[in-house]
Amino acid sequence: MRASLPIAMVIAAAATLPAKAEDLDIAVGKALFDKQWVQAPASTDASDGLGPLFNAKACNSCHKDGGAARLIVLDGEAIMRGLVVRIGNSMGEPDPFYGHQLQDRAVSGLLPEARVTTRLVSVASGFGTGTSDVAVDFTLNGPGFADGTSSEIRIAPSLAGRGLIEQVSKDAVLALADPDDRDGNGISGRARLILSDDGRERLGRFGVKASAASLREQTADAAALDIGLSSPVHRTAYGDCTPAQKDCLGMATGNSPAFENEEISGEMVDMIAAYVAVLPRPAVNSDAQAEALFAASGCAACHVPSLPDAAGKPLPVFTDLLLHDMGPALAGKIGDHFAAPAEWRTAPLIDLNPLNGKRRYLHDGRAATIDMAIRWHGGEAEKARTAYELLDAEERAALLRYLEAL
Ligand code: HEC
Ligand code: HEC
Repeated sequence: MRASLPIAMVIAAAATLPAKAEDLDIAVGKALFDKQWVQAPASTDASDGLGPLFNAKACNSCHKDGGAARLIVLDGEAIMRGLVVRIGNSMGEPDPFYGHQLQDRAVSGLLPEARVTTRLVSVASGFGTGTSDVAVDFTLNGPGFADGTSSEIRIAPSLAGRGLIEQVSKDAVLALADPDDRDGNGISGRARLILSDDGRERLGRFGVKASAASLREQTADAAALDIGLSSPVHRTAYGDCTPAQKDCLGMATGNSPAFENEEISGEMVDMIAAYVAVLPRPAVNSDAQAEALFAASGCAACHVPSLPDAAGKPLPVFTDLLLHDMGPALAGKIGDHFAAPAEWRTAPLIDLNPLNGKRRYLHDGRAATIDMAIRWHGGEAEKARTAYELLDAEERAALLRYLEAL
């Protein structure tokens, strides 16, 4: 048994009697993923550390059961669970007052940074009929943004099959990269390499800009930015609070010697990541007609149906993990030192289930259907979009049925 674990959680997880130690890690990881964190100081060190500023109290609030953001419509009001407002300039530098993300919640005694609301508006752009768009409004509880700060919406993707993304061979991805479009097919993906402390270059795999190399890093990023939990990966008990936010910096932290003097320990981060890594990918039902249409339309050039792991075993990931310029219509306003605002990592086509209309697609959830998501493709995917639009209605329906089940 590991000393630093919250004991109540281990007992709860062990109640399901996992057979092996790694199964116990996964069970505790699930409990931590579902856990609602509370404000420090609390009666138990094991549960506190929330905030001071935060967007949600649990991973599970945004990724329900490991799934994607959901749209809930109540009495005409639209609530998007798992939507966040990122802020920064075109180089990814944070706003000097609000930081990298607007936290619309705060622990008691502190004002949230903003009030963020969502509403449904009907689509005027012609990207499908009978559908609606989610408009996001926010009111700041503080000074206006600094010059150069822009905002951009992001929605939580499904975490299904992300363990496969972690196993994809780096060399296989590097072999697909074609930054100068040498093969002249109009598609020029760029691989993101992230230098780690020990000097190794690791492949960026996670996040819409491929900015995290592992589930561990992405988990620690989310813990800090979305929930306000520090860990040995991010020693920031104040999460996304900036030095200008004096009120925030005056709140108590949940740092504890039991957790490497942070709010959660490195082991806890590892266990959450271990749980995420085993969220299963839905089975791929082979369909010769749809697969042929997918390939002939040029989708498979980026959404590569299968990539090998280091031992050559095929993994059904439907991505090349490369960044592509998707054109001005899909471009955001925030970039970073590597990725331009118009560049996005090819979304893995894993778990696209429309959930009876509760699901949204693309980085900011602008697409209410898979059809609309494809019609927003531009830039390097312009030719593929045109090919898709030229399919006849029956072929398009067959392709969409296949994608919905992926
Ligand atoms: C407030 C909502 C919210 C919370 C809470 C949240 N996430 Fe996320 N998650 C998101 C959004 C939005 C993205 C996409 C962000 C991006 O790529 O810039 C994301 C992306 C991810 C990804 C990357 C998936 C991929 O395909 O690249 C992983 C993994 C992930 N989250 C895990 C977690 C874990 C683990 C937790 C809890 C520690 C968590 N998230 C908490 C909203 C949330
Ligand atoms: C040039 C590379 C490229 C090509 C070609 C391409 N895509 Fe994409 N696709 C992307 C990228 C990048 C994204 C993520 C864009 C975003 O989030 O804004 C994406 C997103 C998607 C999504 C939304 C997934 C989600 O989880 O929200 C679907 C569905 C999709 N593509 C299907 C297709 C189909 C079908 C084709 C062929 C007609 C195709 N794509 C061709 C790069 C490509």
